[in-house]
Amino acid sequence: MNIILIGAQGSGKGTQAEKLSTTLNIRHVASGDLFRKAIGDQTELGLKAKKYIDDGKLVPDEITIAMVLDRLQSPECANGVLLDGFPRTIAQAQALDRGLNEVNKLVDCAIYLEVPRAELLKRLSGRYICKAHQHVYNIESNPPQVPGICDIDGSELYQRSDDRGEAIQKRLDIFFSETIHLLDYYEGQQKLVKVNGNHSIEQVQKDLTIAIIERAGQH
Ligand code: AP5
Repeated sequence: MNIILIGAQGSGKGTQAEKLSTTLNIRHVASGDLFRKAIGDQTELGLKAKKYIDDGKLVPDEITIAMVLDRLQSPECANGVLLDGFPRTIAQAQALDRGLNEVNKLVDCAIYLEVPRAELLKRLSGRYICKAHQHVYNIESNPPQVPGICDIDGSELYQRSDDRGEAIQKRLDIFFSETIHLLDYYEGQQKLVKVNGNHSIEQVQKDLTIAIIERAGQH
């Protein structure tokens, strides 16, 4: 299956996708992770993307689309993908449809993780991620066993540069004014499924799994 996870910043897309991709045996492709890797490796793409990300803005469509479609062509994505953070604009959604269509594939469902803005702000300001593999923690809801250290790979945890100050508000504004239009796009294709993301991580995991199984059963 090719599944899209749509949700505001902090809704839990990355947290859930990491677990779900293992359960479903499909590749987790997160545009934000791809950008952060490119920035860490100081590639040309990373240098271009950094200024937009630090400022809380979307990276331009042409850069983002090329990066993600290139990733989708890799053999590890042949079994299906769980897309997290892409598409974020209608132009990206259309480019994804075209790209999949060229290889006789399609988006099977687009899941919207709904979480109220006040909760999103709380989650983002408490988020820490690991330097080695970007595993996600939260000082309140999902703390590591040893403060500042990743449970999984022992690497140091850090706070993302765009999880501070004004960039958080700016990113949420962009989501609710721009990315939100994707809901109509996928509703129009009868692919939209809404899941309440304002429960515990474990409960949301169960609800997502049920939603995906139900959707798969309709095909
Ligand atoms: P990206 O990395 O995608 O960041 P984001 O959209 O800002 O999304 P987040 O990673 O912040 O949220 P999430 O939903 O994954 O939440 P998480 O699981 O971490 O993008 C970064 C930047 O790259 C963008 O701003 C943009 O500049 C650029 N970019 C990326 N894609 C792009 C695109 N397609 N087009 C253009 N530009 C693009 O959870 C958040 C916190 O909450 C964690 O601490 C977690 O532990 C906690 N938590 C999770 N679930 C729960 C729960 N149920 N209860 C309590 N706490 C929870």
